[in-house]
Amino acid sequence: MYADKIKDFKIKKDAVILAIESSCDETAAAVIKGGRKILSSKILSSCAEHVKFGGVVPEIASRAHTTAISLVVEDAVKSAGLTLADIDAVAVTYGAGLLGALLVGVSYAKTLAYSLSIPLIPVSHIRGHLSASYLENESLQPPFISLLASGGHTAIIYVKSYSEYEILGSTLDDAVGEAFDKVARVLGLSYPGGPNVERLAESGENAVKLPKMLKGEGGYNFSYSGLKTAVINYIHGKEQKGEEYSRADVACSFQHAAVDILVEKVIEACKEKGVYVVTAGGGVVANGFLRRGLEEQCKQNKIILHLPPKWLCTDNAAMIGAEGYIQYLNGNFADIDLNAKARVELK
Ligand code: KG4
Ligand code: ZN
Repeated sequence: MYADKIKDFKIKKDAVILAIESSCDETAAAVIKGGRKILSSKILSSCAEHVKFGGVVPEIASRAHTTAISLVVEDAVKSAGLTLADIDAVAVTYGAGLLGALLVGVSYAKTLAYSLSIPLIPVSHIRGHLSASYLENESLQPPFISLLASGGHTAIIYVKSYSEYEILGSTLDDAVGEAFDKVARVLGLSYPGGPNVERLAESGENAVKLPKMLKGEGGYNFSYSGLKTAVINYIHGKEQKGEEYSRADVACSFQHAAVDILVEKVIEACKEKGVYVVTAGGGVVANGFLRRGLEEQCKQNKIILHLPPKWLCTDNAAMIGAEGYIQYLNGNFADIDLNAKARVELK
């Protein structure tokens, strides 16, 4: 039995983990050594196939994963200069994400773990984003305050130890990435919205008055639905009256409103908890305006900031390997009946 073989598996500190990620439109595989060193990382995106639909089409994403997965995994192992015999464990995103897409990665990972008789590590995509900061960064140790800002989640988290998290606040409605995507749509920008809003904002001014969210009274919670509606109402109002408006100014003003509050709350959390180290993860952390805001405010407040490079903020498998290593050290292995889950708790 697979479970019996894995039960007494000997944990190695410098374990080589093959990580697989297929929760959305990226088929990704990476090989990580000792939890922090990236030996290889490969990402094949089906993004271009979704553009004409204005968002990810689950069926198209699943089919793309099916054709890409073995190529991407083989490429990752080969680029690491290894063979499958050198892999100590397989980590895989089991949730959150598109069920059909996740199932491709989970099935592939199960087959590999079973045939190689090595542990199968179930990894939460959300925790993967938070663990991206550990990669190629030997000095980072908990405790720290982490900002999670992706297409599905927005939260400020007090990371007390490698596996102990306290959620200080999260979004009450839309995630910040979701708000970027929806605003992109009303501005006539194509999918993926976030980077396109950022690009348009560069030529605009922060000149459109938009509501600043939950300032002071909301604790560490966020609400992006009101901000998104204010942008939609502004555009519709201008169009109905036949008045000219600057799309770039709308993008810039929205970006300010969406991002400033995140930076402000992160700094507040550091002061309240007396923790002066900050990390961040999730696709929105690839946003240059947010990165500069965090850099400036952390510097002013003598807070150490560890931002992962942009490519480790958006979806990738290296972050799944980093979080997988933490689970590996805890002996958190799955049996061969591991299932994919569309939703997982933030914790
Ligand atoms: O982490 P991620 O790749 O996938 C999820 O786990 O959700 O995040 C995707 C989100 C999308 O909403 C996308 O528009 C946003 O991150 N995003 C950005 C930028 N790059 C990606 N938002 C603002 N500025 C960016 N440069
Ligand atoms: Zn993600």
